[in-house]
Amino acid sequence: MIDIPVFYASHHGHTRRIAEFVASEIWQNGYVSKAVDIKSSRDLDMTRTKAAVVGASLLAGRYPRPLARFIQQHRRLLSRQPTGFFSVSMLAASEDPDIRMDAVKDIDLYLRDATWQPTLRASFAGALTYTQYSWPVRMMMRRLAQRSGDPTDISRDHVFTDWNVVREYARTMVRATEARTGESQKGRGDVGPMRSIR
Ligand SMILES: Cc1cc2nc3c(=O)[nH]c(=O)nc-3n(C[C@H](O)[C@H](O)[C@H](O)COP(=O)(O)O)c2cc1C
Repeated sequence: MIDIPVFYASHHGHTRRIAEFVASEIWQNGYVSKAVDIKSSRDLDMTRTKAAVVGASLLAGRYPRPLARFIQQHRRLLSRQPTGFFSVSMLAASEDPDIRMDAVKDIDLYLRDATWQPTLRASFAGALTYTQYSWPVRMMMRRLAQRSGDPTDISRDHVFTDWNVVREYARTMVRATEARTGESQKGRGDVGPMRSIR
């Protein structure tokens, strides 16, 4: 049984990487966790989870459609347990604080429209994963990067995510879950991902 699934909607793999990092950090803090593609969420019995995290990346100003479907499908459960939402974008990687704040406001608007108020929300800087893009997308992203002053070396990927911030987010999620369930996971963390799934 998974205590805290970390659902993700990812186009080029970076949000999946962040979801896996969050799940691994939650494991290390004592709860069974796993990154789950949002498209496979039907296979998971959400009634038995203690909390849930959902992450999605921004593409052309939008979150992927499966995210809205997921929120709609699980609305009641999501309102009953501690939940986290994290957004992954290049807006959040901007050096301009106003632009980063715009990214946060967009998240709030999206969640308000989706009528979901997660316990924790976060805006994580994403990545320019040039090696994962098709040729036309690679060219387009390089052009956009040139304009915004981001890296244009298309021979490799460029990651802007601050993993310490992601780690703290995962730990805060663990604390929120403990507060709700009345459990303390202290001292269980060293067992990590080797712990068998109940
Ligand atoms: C085609 C494309 C469109 C994008 N559009 C946006 C956007 O509108 N706003 C933004 O902040 N980031 C945008 N990004 C950046 C992505 O959100 C960022 O690269 C993120 O790390 C992608 O995560 P993923 O690999 O999980 O999809 C775009 C990236 C691509 C490839």
